[in-house]
Formats: sequence, structure tokens, C-alpha cells
Amino acid sequence: MGAKILSIAAHVPEKILTNRDLEKIVDTSDEWITTRTGIKERHVTKDNEFTSTLATEAAKKALERAGISPLDIDMIVVASATHDYWFPATACIVQANVGAENAACFDIEAACPGFVYALEVGRGFLSLPNYKNVLVIGAETLTKITDYTDRSTCVLFGDGAGAAVLTKSEEDHFLGSYLKGNGKLGDLLILPACGTRKRCSEEVIKNRDHYLKMQGREVFKHAVVGMQEAAVKAVENAGITSEQIDWLVAHQANKRIIDATRERLGLPEEKVYINIDRYGNTSSASIPIALNEMYEKGLLKRGQIIVLDAFGAGFIYGALVIKW
Ligand code: UT7
Repeated sequence: MGAKILSIAAHVPEKILTNRDLEKIVDTSDEWITTRTGIKERHVTKDNEFTSTLATEAAKKALERAGISPLDIDMIVVASATHDYWFPATACIVQANVGAENAACFDIEAACPGFVYALEVGRGFLSLPNYKNVLVIGAETLTKITDYTDRSTCVLFGDGAGAAVLTKSEEDHFLGSYLKGNGKLGDLLILPACGTRKRCSEEVIKNRDHYLKMQGREVFKHAVVGMQEAAVKAVENAGITSEQIDWLVAHQANKRIIDATRERLGLPEEKVYINIDRYGNTSSASIPIALNEMYEKGLLKRGQIIVLDAFGAGFIYGALVIKW
């Protein structure tokens, strides 16, 4: 027995922040943001919208599309770097919101590759006898940990969520994977305070250490190498050739990083799905948001081979080769 993705869905907040809006907040320009990142606008939550709010909406839609009752879900895994609370887990809030009363639930923090990691975790559970359906979610409200006085990061991030229902399948649709970490470089992309190491304090707030910090240029270099390595190794592990790939759906952090990954795999541009222009970097939500758009546009066809590939804080990175 293997596993397959039964349905995909996503939800983003209504409010949109454009590059022109950001020009009024920090010293930046639409031209700089577009050429350096590919981003034109991003969705942002209001004060009364949380990671669980977005995750719940995506989950409800994914369940509806899968045609199964919330009561048939055995496990909920939420990948997020922006959980509602330290605890309870955001997955438990989603469980209550959708009425998945028979499900176990927990969160994982695997930054931008969170959805890729959570899919691996989900399909791992499906190899056990007592799990039949797993709900896997990538959900983020990164704009709540973004410093809108720091032009080097605040132009990058957006909010959103995506959800997939995984189910047991006689044919395994998970063809190959490669997950890797490099914890030595964690300081290059970090939320330095309000953890147990540096607790929240007036000083922390004054220094703005409760916001995400990134050394973009350094992260960029490692992201290019990591994304390429993950994609190539996952394809190797799947025992397929590049010619067999129908789609590369990569974490939407920077169009230039995605282009470099595409070139390494030797894929033409039309085999890569890019929507960073409308969402920015939504971390663990970016891949399921992209998959959902592809599904809604009718681009995803059963049997197609898709490479999912992501890199993020940790550093961690990873790729999966799946059959849709
Ligand atoms: O999702 C997790 C993984 N994250 C990533 O993969 C992100 C990886 N990093 C990147 O995508 C890119 O490094 C950035 C988009 C963040 C930055 O692009 P860059 O081409 O690496 O620019 P840079 O940081 O080297 O900065 C170039 C210049 C600097 O000015 P000087 O020193 O050359 O005078 C910056 O101060 O651009 C300046 N700059 C800006 N200018 C206008 C930085 N941010 C901005 C801005 N608007 N928003």
C-alpha cells in the first residue's frame, strides 16, 4: 500500500498589499522588488485573521473536494513557522474548527519546506495500519512577524494557507524524496527573540528582535544550491529522468531561485508554475497555494509527474517527486 493526494485547496486573505503600497512605507520601488524577486503584490491578514483562520478555510475546501467527511480524517498535520500559539498546536484549532473529531493532530515547524516535510510525514502515517486519511496543511501569517521598517525583508512576505487530503492507495504516488538540513547556518534566517532563549521583553521589542531577520544575499546563494541539490537527488531517488517531469512546483521565494532550479533540471519554462508575483513568499503555504491554482486552472492531470522543491530557515531543504 502507498499513498496519494486526494484533493488540494487553498485560502488567502482578501486584503492585498502592492509594491506601490510598500513604496509609501519604506524606501523601495516597484521596479526593485519586481526585478530582484518577481513579486508584484501579496495577500495580508487583518488583525482578526490568524494562521488557523486561513488553515481552517483551506482545510474545509480540501475536505469538500475530497468528498469525505471531517470524521474520516485520522490525522491533521499543520506545517507553519507562524503558529497561532506555542501551544496548543494550530492543528488542534483546525481540528475543532472543521469537526475532525476522530483525528490526532500536531504541528511541525519546518519553515518554508514545511509542506514538503508534512507531506512526507503524512504519507509515513499512511504506511501504518490504523491511518487511512491524513489532512496536511501549510499555513502562514508571516506578515505578523515582518518588520515594516526593514525594506530588505518587508517587501518579500505574504500570508496564506494550502491543504491536501492524503489517502491510502494501492499504487504509491510518492515516487521519490530527498530531505536535508544544515543547522550550522541557522543565524542567516531567524526570528531571534520571544523563544525560550531570548524571552520577550521591552528591550526585545525596542530592538525589533521579535521580527524575522534575514541576510538575503547569503540565503539566496544557499537556496540556489540547496534547491538544485534537492530536486536532482529526489528525481534520482524516484528513478526517473528530467524528460518525464511534467511540472516543477517550487517554493516561491524568489523567481531567480526558481529559474536556477529549472535550468539545473533542464526543464523548459512552461513546465514551471510561478505565482510569486501575486502572493510573495508565503513560506510553507507557497507550494500548496501554487498546486491549488494549477488544479483550479485545470493544469493538473492525474498521472502527471510533479517535483515539489523548497528551501528555508534552518537551513532545511527538500524535494518530493509525486504522481498526481
Ligand atoms: O523563503 C526562505 C528562503 N528565502 C530566500 O530564498 C530569499 C533569498 N534571498 C533573496 O531572494 C534576495 O537576496 C533578496 C530578494 C532578499 C535580495 O535581493 P539581492 O539581489 O540579494 O539584494 P541585496 O540584499 O544584495 O541588496 C542589493 C541592494 C543593497 O543596496 P547596496 O548595498 O547595493 O547599495 C540593498 O540595500 O539593494 C538594496 N535593497 C533594496 N533596495 C530597494 C535591499 N532591499 C531593498 C528594497 N528596495 N526593498
